[in-house]
Amino acid sequence: MNTCLRRALQTQAPTTVVQRSIRPITSSAASPSTEPEPEVMKTGTQGKRRRPLTEEQQRFLDSALRVNQAGELAAVLIYTAQTPPIVRSHPHLRPLMKHMYDQEAGHFDYFNKILAKHRIRPTAMTPIWHVAATALGWGTAVMGREAAMACTEAVETEIGEHYNAQVRELLAWMKDMENRGEEVGEELTELVREIRKIRDEELEHLDHAVENDAKEANPYEVLTNVIRGGCRAAIWVSEKV
Ligand SMILES: [Fe+2]
Ligand SMILES: [Fe+2]
Repeated sequence: MNTCLRRALQTQAPTTVVQRSIRPITSSAASPSTEPEPEVMKTGTQGKRRRPLTEEQQRFLDSALRVNQAGELAAVLIYTAQTPPIVRSHPHLRPLMKHMYDQEAGHFDYFNKILAKHRIRPTAMTPIWHVAATALGWGTAVMGREAAMACTEAVETEIGEHYNAQVRELLAWMKDMENRGEEVGEELTELVREIRKIRDEELEHLDHAVENDAKEANPYEVLTNVIRGGCRAAIWVSEKV
């Protein structure tokens, strides 16, 4: 984390432990409507005093944003590999595949800009994730439409939970800052807004996948469990290296 983000965020809060429990997410209705809504999300910053983030908060943001960028790269590559075989056998899915690809490309672009702006290094695993995501996309598409959709369902279930954990953590920081009468800063407010929007789009993809027979994939349980396990492992590794 460079000084730019530190200065921009310039506030301090006690560390909150992120709960990384694996909850099943089965539709976008799972998007939590009960998240605390810090006042600043509605009113903006108000020229209160500012303090820097703690070392621990900076480390959290560095690794969270690194994982987000890696995940979005993987999503772009999965859809890039899936689209030709799926569209060839099911031309009616072309608009849906393009819609999901376009949204993933937008997410990837956003996190690329954030990483560059704050000089956060991408994960060293990028070349490995490149190969793995392309193989996953191609392999599931060759298995058929249902397997490709099951892949989206599994990935978005994990990613939705991953983004939810981040949103909960950042909202807790903001709430603590407000309680102490400190300024939250426009940059942190904007980051939370953007991650929520991206999270909602991921959960929309999950809904599309279920609507398009993800659960008809064979073998559904094995396929989705393996992919979800792979996603959790990739997140864990990307947080660290
Ligand atoms: Fe995405
Ligand atoms: Fe997605």
